[in-house]
Amino acid sequence: MTTSVDGTGKSPLPDLHYIQYDPDKEAQYLTAIRELISKDLSEPYSIYVYRYFLYQWADLCYMTVDSSGELIGVVVCKLEPHRDGPMRGYIAMLAVKKEHRGRGIASKLVRMAMDGMIAKDADEIALETEIDNIPSLKLYERLGFLRTKRLHRYYLNGNSAYRMILYLKDGVASKQSQMPYDPLY
Ligand SMILES: CC(C)(COP(=O)(O)OP(=O)(O)OC[C@H]1O[C@@H](n2cnc3c(N)ncnc32)[C@H](O)[C@@H]1OP(=O)(O)O)[C@@H](O)C(=O)NCCC(=O)NCCS
Repeated sequence: MTTSVDGTGKSPLPDLHYIQYDPDKEAQYLTAIRELISKDLSEPYSIYVYRYFLYQWADLCYMTVDSSGELIGVVVCKLEPHRDGPMRGYIAMLAVKKEHRGRGIASKLVRMAMDGMIAKDADEIALETEIDNIPSLKLYERLGFLRTKRLHRYYLNGNSAYRMILYLKDGVASKQSQMPYDPLY
């Protein structure tokens, strides 16, 4: 039987480091990021989707690596004005290696991304997650995100999603965008 030092029944936690993605290290990390994220995705992203985020918002991508540099977890985000309205952060991808889940790694990565967006004056942070993804819903709701919309058959596999938003400033939820109303946004 495997024993653990932290009582989770899992193998002992390796020495973990939380680091910001560095575009100069694309050769070292991009393949590992794609592999980790695509394992649990309901739809595959092309390399251009990863580059879209990582070229423009490398400073909002955080990784957990072990002492040998192996990728254990990653969060990929962006931050831009939303329809000429609030400055909206967006958590595009989040994944932790299966054998390291349930130990707070994703929570810490998301908190780092949130802090990065807050430092850049974000008004709100949005994301979508599948309606039956309990770990993800628990994680985001504990951090204060609200389910703002149910998006019917949002993913290619037919699953529905919740849009979740964390409002960071008073009054942002009621601030009107200058664009016409679109139920998907
Ligand atoms: C979602 C995911 C990133 C969470 O990673 P993690 O490192 O295990 O998350 P944490 O340890 O920080 O735990 C987050 C919350 O989920 C809960 N949780 C973790 N695993 C769980 C499970 N199997 N069942 C129920 N709850 C679970 C934790 O208890 C914690 O909630 P709490 O703080 O209220 O106790 C991870 O499960 C994953 O990579 N899933 C596949 C990809 C994915 O679904 N990404 C999110 C899409 S938006």
